[in-house]
Amino acid sequence: MTYLNVRDGYRLWAPVYASETVVSALDEELTRALSPPANGRTILDAGCGIGRRIPQARASFAVGVDLSFEMLAAGGRTNVVAADLRALPFPAEQFDLIWCRLVLGHLRDLLSAFSEFSRVGRENAYLLVTDFHPDAVAAGHVRSFRDLAGAVHEVEHHVHSESDYIETAESAGFTTVASRAGLVGPSVEGMYGRAGRMAAYERDKGLALVAGFLFKQQNRCRS
Ligand SMILES: C[S@@+](CC[C@H](N)C(=O)[O-])C[C@H]1O[C@@H](n2cnc3c(N)ncnc32)[C@H](O)[C@@H]1O
Repeated sequence: MTYLNVRDGYRLWAPVYASETVVSALDEELTRALSPPANGRTILDAGCGIGRRIPQARASFAVGVDLSFEMLAAGGRTNVVAADLRALPFPAEQFDLIWCRLVLGHLRDLLSAFSEFSRVGRENAYLLVTDFHPDAVAAGHVRSFRDLAGAVHEVEHHVHSESDYIETAESAGFTTVASRAGLVGPSVEGMYGRAGRMAAYERDKGLALVAGFLFKQQNRCRS
């Protein structure tokens, strides 16, 4: 298994990224449980990947941002832009719902990301964050994928604890509304079964694979 930085990793992952995994299924579950509805909101999907989660149908405006040209190209969407989420190409106070799903573990430092989300969020904006859970790393799981040629690669990942996310978000001006873990259980048993991995299911049952947080932008002081 080769260890790749984020750009090289997603360059190779892009053509096969659309296949759902146990992690992406748990991320969806957490998002359904934690996120306010998209209806009528202006939405930023930060680290949108192929853009498959951008909830444009019910949003008044939705845009995705990703570092990887290859991921954006694989998704073929038009409402996306290539950029680093630590330097977002938007003016302040544009969005009232920001999603950042399965991205922040790729960053060594969380503060620059949360500071940008705070800058582009409107007053009372919601921020949904999901990520690969530190318990999964402790149990030996890695951010890996199999490329088109069948080779397995691991992508750069930095472990952040639950308190790292919460304390950094709060220092950037958010309050914590909820936090929740996505656990291996009946909702993903079928995925393990179809992959012929029931022994892994029995081993992983109850393990937190995905962490989820809902934050809210604190009222801004206006002079
Ligand atoms: C696991 S994928 C998640 C994609 C999407 N959020 C989803 O749930 O399907 C992680 C994505 O984060 C992107 N990413 C990593 N670091 C980034 C950064 N600093 N700025 C923007 N995107 C970044 C990667 O290019 C990749 O597309």
